[in-house]
Amino acid sequence: MATILRNLSYRYQWLYDGISRAAALLVGGEGRFRRLALDRVEIGPETRVLDLCCGAGQTTRFVVERSRAVTGLDASAIAVERARRQVPGATYVQGWAERLPFGDASFEVVHASAALHEMEPEQLRQILIEVHRVLVPGGMATFVDFHRPTVPLLWPILWPGLALFLWLFETETSWQFIRADLVQVMEAVGFERCDRALHAGGTVQAVRGRRSPGPEMPTPETPTGEAL
Ligand SMILES: C[S@@+](CC[C@H](N)C(=O)[O-])C[C@H]1O[C@@H](n2cnc3c(N)ncnc32)[C@H](O)[C@@H]1O
Repeated sequence: MATILRNLSYRYQWLYDGISRAAALLVGGEGRFRRLALDRVEIGPETRVLDLCCGAGQTTRFVVERSRAVTGLDASAIAVERARRQVPGATYVQGWAERLPFGDASFEVVHASAALHEMEPEQLRQILIEVHRVLVPGGMATFVDFHRPTVPLLWPILWPGLALFLWLFETETSWQFIRADLVQVMEAVGFERCDRALHAGGTVQAVRGRRSPGPEMPTPETPTGEAL
C-alpha cells in the first residue's frame, strides 16, 4: 500500500529530491548517502559503471565525478530524460533491470541505490542474475537500500519512523524486501565475498558482492635451473 504522496513524488522531482535529502540526514546527509556503498569500491576514470534504476541521476551525479564510463538505466522514459538533462556526463538507456540490454561482462561495477525494494521477490532474483551476468569476472555489485532496524534500544523510534515512511511512499514490496536477506539472495545467484554495512540504526544497508573471478589461471612452470 502507498499513499498519493508516492505518485506525487515521482511526478514532481523537487518533492522526491526533498524527501530523499531529508531521509538522508539519518546517515549524515545526501552526499554521504549517495556514496555509502561506492566509497568502498575502486572506481577509476575508465571503470565501466552501471547505475541501475538511476532515476533522475540522483546517484549518477556522484559516480560521474569518478568515472568517464558511466551508464544509467531506468525503466521510466521521464526519469531517463531528466537524468540526461541534469547529469549529462553519463550515457543513458531506457530499459528493464530484469532484462538488461547489455552483453555479458560489460561492466566492472553495477550499483543501484534506493531501488531494489521496489521489486517483487522473483523480479529481484532475476535482476540479480542479470547484474551478475553483465559484470566482468571479479566485478562488483553494490546496493544501498532499506533494512530492518537492528538496534533494539532504538526500535521504539526507528520502527514507527520506518513504517510511516514505507506507508507514505512505498508499496508492499518494500516490506517483503526488508523481511528478506539481500546478501542471501545474492549468494544464491552466484555472488561471492558479499558483505553488508548497516547505518542509521540498521535502517539502511550498503551491500557489496563480487562475481567470481573465474577459474584460477595455472601458473606457468619455471623450468628448473633457468634464471628468472
Ligand atoms: C526510488 S527510485 C530510485 C532512483 C535513484 N536510484 C535514487 O537513488 O534516488 C527507483 C527507480 O527505479 C526505477 N525502476 C523501477 N522498476 C524498474 C525496473 N524493473 N527496471 C528498471 N528501472 C526500474 C523507477 O523508474 C525509478 O526511477
